Amino acid sequence: MPSIDLRGKRALVAGVSDATGFGFAIARDLADCGAKVSVASWPPAMGIFETMLKRGKFDEDRRLSNGQLLEFERVFALDAAYDTMEDVPEEVRTSKRYADRGDFTIQGMVDQWKKEFGEGSLDILVHSLANGPEVAKDVIDTSRKGYLAALSVSAYSMVSMVSRFGPLMSKGASAISLTYLGSQQVIHGYGGGMNAAKAALESDTKYLAYQAGRRYGIRVNTISAGPYASRAASATGHIQEYVEHYEQHAPLRERLTQEEVSAVAAFLASPLASGITGSTIYVDKGFHAMGMSYG
Ligand SMILES: NC(=O)c1ccc[n+]([C@@H]2O[C@H](COP(=O)([O-])OP(=O)(O)OC[C@H]3O[C@@H](n4cnc5c(N)ncnc54)[C@H](O)[C@@H]3O)[C@@H](O)[C@H]2O)c1
Repeated sequence: MPSIDLRGKRALVAGVSDATGFGFAIARDLADCGAKVSVASWPPAMGIFETMLKRGKFDEDRRLSNGQLLEFERVFALDAAYDTMEDVPEEVRTSKRYADRGDFTIQGMVDQWKKEFGEGSLDILVHSLANGPEVAKDVIDTSRKGYLAALSVSAYSMVSMVSRFGPLMSKGASAISLTYLGSQQVIHGYGGGMNAAKAALESDTKYLAYQAGRRYGIRVNTISAGPYASRAASATGHIQEYVEHYEQHAPLRERLTQEEVSAVAAFLASPLASGITGSTIYVDKGFHAMGMSYG
């Protein structure tokens, strides 16, 4: 029977600032399957994350199946809105939450990774982050600035990471992002340009799969997850409605769990998925398949 074996592999999960989201569960599952796992955390949320980690507030969430606690190999500071320090406005660079974080840009993280682990050392790259400053506004009311910010942080950042990490990734390595059905169909309240950002992310998955596949021999896929009440999702103000709607209308009515998503990420990261690239994999209890349900 095939089982997921990630021993000897090194992973980076970008977008971990607490234990409520998909990123944390994916990090835990990758470690459970034997990978060494680093995470990248957003500077405005990172201080609280580090404090809670140190105080043992995540100990239950860190528990692996062998009883040990998940230990991160490295925790990087990352603001995925920036590729290099030249892009960072002075007021951000000097602000309290950023000033002592060193180079928190995508290139900064890549350089630190290379220095610490060397070339060909990254086997699994997970992009589990998104941000839309105007997510609470309908698309029709979203400003150009807010719309482009959503695309920049939630979609372009994946292009930048694959482009910059590509040369450091091993042959057969796997890059995975997280998307949502709001890219393809209208979801009430999914605002601020996040629909367009996720559509871009899904399209880029195909182009990156082709180009990074040919250039570096790596795979690129995205998981389209159903609604789950993470901290980020709760910020949209609609997550409870979404969860309840899925319970009523999806083929499988039980609520989606973090673990159902993280298990698929572990599979996609593993050699078992060596034939899968350029795909959007739905992990949403089948909701995407529906037109109309009855009863
Ligand atoms: N929760 C859901 O219902 C749901 C459904 C489908 C897809 N997703 C996607 O899953 C991914 C993870 O989200 P989640 O819901 O697990 O919540 P989460 O809060 O765990 O993850 C979002 C992360 O993005 C980080 N972040 C925000 N702005 C950033 C920036 N500029 N630079 C770097 N990091 C930044 C946050 O600090 C947070 O850690 C996102 O791409 C999200 O769109 C979520």
